[in-house]
Amino acid sequence: MSDVHAQADAAAAAVPLLELQHLAISFGRHVAVEDLNLAIYPGERLALVGESGSGKTVTALSILRLLGQARIRGAIRFQGKDLAQLSEDELRKIRGGEIALIFQEPMTALNPLYTIGSQISESLVLHEGLAPAVARSKTIELLRRTGIREPERRVDSFAHQLSGGQRQRAMIAMALACRPKLLIADEPTTALDTTTRAHCATAARPAGGGRTTCARGWRCVGQRHGGAADHP
Ligand SMILES: Nc1ncnc2c1ncn2[C@@H]1O[C@H](COP(=O)(O)OP(=O)(O)O)[C@@H](O)[C@H]1O
Ligand SMILES: [Mg+2]
Repeated sequence: MSDVHAQADAAAAAVPLLELQHLAISFGRHVAVEDLNLAIYPGERLALVGESGSGKTVTALSILRLLGQARIRGAIRFQGKDLAQLSEDELRKIRGGEIALIFQEPMTALNPLYTIGSQISESLVLHEGLAPAVARSKTIELLRRTGIREPERRVDSFAHQLSGGQRQRAMIAMALACRPKLLIADEPTTALDTTTRAHCATAARPAGGGRTTCARGWRCVGQRHGGAADHP
């Protein structure tokens, strides 16, 4: 690697991939999150741990401005850029392409009216500019990697034709399709049995290290109502 590239990489590593500063989220007079601070650097995994209702999901949704009527204060920076300042068009490019979300309930992400293959391929065509036929074979490959059996057949299935574990894997395939820089997983395996849970957790780990950083894992930030505490 040349010195110039090494310097550029070192500079990029010094800037957090995602940084939340004094994040506060409220719905009317109800304060869901108050003064949450965290930073995730490239290659890191970070888990946000907290009791039910402590604001984990709204924190994840606020990053991509997916919360309807909430009031959000504080800074949300992605690679140093304030996401609050971006236009809807710029945000659309970041959603899925740069930051992907995996939800607890796959039907939040999967459209029941389209086959899982067409949904995954669509994002490959949109974000990666692939031709439809290339996108389809890449989709089959992604489904295979997440552990779905007979991906050549499953690619043409609708979500309701799949088991809970298969749906979860399809959603993971969709999230990883565009090699996002940041993967946010919001309790993606809570609803599954223990064995399927372990398989899906492995499937969500990006192949070969890749460029994806996970907002879940083992440097824990514990979240209670109204704040956060670091547990390295
Ligand atoms: N759309 C909404 N309108 C009003 N309150 C909401 C909304 N979404 C979440 N909340 C409230 O925000 C708080 C945090 O919720 P949530 O992020 O779902 O918790 P967690 O994911 O940690 O279980 C809860 O008190 C919840 O009732
Ligand atoms: Mg939640």
